[in-house]
Amino acid sequence: MDTIVKPRRLAVTGDPSYSHSLPGWAYLDPEIYEREKEEIFYKTWQYAGWVGDLKEPGDYITASMLDQSVIILKGANGQLHGFHNVCQHRGHQLLAGTGRVGNITCPYHAWTYQLDGTLRTARGAEKLERFNAAQFHLKPVRVEVFCEKFVFYNLDNGAKPLGELAGDLAEDIRKETYRFGLLDRQERKRFGAREVNANWKIVMDNFQECYHCRAAHPGFSAYYNMATYKVETHGYWSCQRGEARNHTKSAFTEETGAKTNKVRFWWLFPNTTFNSRTEDPEAMGVTVRIPTDLTHTDAWMDLYRQPGTVQPPNPAPLTFDEDDVINEAVQRGLASKGYDSGRFIYDPEHLETTEEAVHIFHKLIVEALKL
Ligand code: FES
Ligand SMILES: [Fe+2]
Repeated sequence: MDTIVKPRRLAVTGDPSYSHSLPGWAYLDPEIYEREKEEIFYKTWQYAGWVGDLKEPGDYITASMLDQSVIILKGANGQLHGFHNVCQHRGHQLLAGTGRVGNITCPYHAWTYQLDGTLRTARGAEKLERFNAAQFHLKPVRVEVFCEKFVFYNLDNGAKPLGELAGDLAEDIRKETYRFGLLDRQERKRFGAREVNANWKIVMDNFQECYHCRAAHPGFSAYYNMATYKVETHGYWSCQRGEARNHTKSAFTEETGAKTNKVRFWWLFPNTTFNSRTEDPEAMGVTVRIPTDLTHTDAWMDLYRQPGTVQPPNPAPLTFDEDDVINEAVQRGLASKGYDSGRFIYDPEHLETTEEAVHIFHKLIVEALKL
């Protein structure tokens, strides 16, 4: 790639009212992308799935991110264990999807591991000298359950606990999501219509502000009261809170006791979002956006809902397709020789126009990559 010919200026500073945004090269350079894998994706908490899939000993889920795959399973002792999804013999992947096992048996030469990852049998190894089964324990991966529902993992054994990084986010999600305790994961689906031709940071930037909503999402902006739309940042996460312009139209107001049609968009560094809307009070979406390469981003979502309830038609217009078009146009624009970096709009009242959540995202990127 020969697009990077300009000096590499960087003016992301601590104060959003003075800070510039990440420059174009930070979205275009394959070396930056490689560093993001090592310093961000392999060191941060990644959403894997629903704790309800891990009820009995031997229940497992698998999750993959970039070129990594993990197993999370319920051990005989009832504890959750996380392992890299790779056999310690010659590297075959061990499990796929979700299910229940008595032990983990590799499909290749049938080495078997106990639920705690200990190597149990390796046929033929008894004839070897100096074969120490303890050296072939499955490699552990950190696991945490967030908000009593959401299973996260972290490939960095030295990472701070998620509860410590974002305990206040868990509180906020519990408090602000109607009947949160009753939600079960009902469905996993692709979030948007397709993979987006844009760097993953463009997609996250776009999620983090609603400054663009009036111009790009006329339907959304007409439905919600943009004059009271609020953005909050909390260092490692952010939240956007909106309320419908005319909440009396909610079909759920009387039936569920929901006071108003609220939308909540939470973001957890670097790539997990949670959204809840009280038009559909039993639903929450947990979305993972993941790069497939430097300039493409995919997404998948777990949809949580109270069992037995049916998803009503959403009266608020969706914005995914509109955002995809924007994100791809930004990808093209950032490569322009006529662009360096921009300046955040910051509203001290944290209302609609503020881009302070994009700013904390950029700050965390700069810190993680030591730019
Ligand atoms: S690679 Fe797993 S048993 Fe050989
Ligand atoms: Fe948008």
